Amino acid sequence: MNEPSLRLFFALWPDPDTRAALRRLQAPLQGRLTHYADLHLTLAFLGAQPQSALPLLKEVLAHLPRSEIRVTIDKLGYFSRNRIAWAGTHASPEALLRLQQQLVAGIGEAGVQWKNEHAFKSHITLARDASPPGDIVFAPFDWRANEVALVLSENRQNGARYQVVAARRLDQDLRWPDPGEDARLGA
Ligand code: 2AM
Repeated sequence: MNEPSLRLFFALWPDPDTRAALRRLQAPLQGRLTHYADLHLTLAFLGAQPQSALPLLKEVLAHLPRSEIRVTIDKLGYFSRNRIAWAGTHASPEALLRLQQQLVAGIGEAGVQWKNEHAFKSHITLARDASPPGDIVFAPFDWRANEVALVLSENRQNGARYQVVAARRLDQDLRWPDPGEDARLGA
């Protein structure tokens, strides 16, 4: 029998103040708004992975070098191909690009198979099936983006919802999820 698979990705996981600021940016948007608790910046989308990849991916998280990442959210953008309205930066900070490259290298070194097909375009999806945001003026804000999460994407009736499997503050050591969480994931 095939091992059940988990749809996984790595993301920068915003703190509550940043989520609140992002929610304010969502207010004037048309479309299906990302749930407050699900707002994130994807670093690497791994797709369907066997459960056996989980411990390897947690190790990748544990071995990311410490760093300080400050992202200034100063741009609202639109991907017309998939009708996504997003928040992001005019210029991605070096530390963010470095982290994403370290993560990609770590996933490869761990022997996890995945399709790293798309060039990294840092963005936080605010709304799907969205109209272009137009000229919305807002005060840029700083996000100290120090929390990286390994996230499980679950398909629900009204779209995907996300569950953090493991998280790591880049200025601290790894925080493992509670044992109950691991048991539910069958790890
Ligand atoms: P998006 O927000 O631009 O849709 C979980 O699906 C996260 O991984 C989302 O942030 C999504 O980006 C991102 N992602 C990147 N590549 C993906 C893919 N091929 N399929 C689904 N999600 C993808």
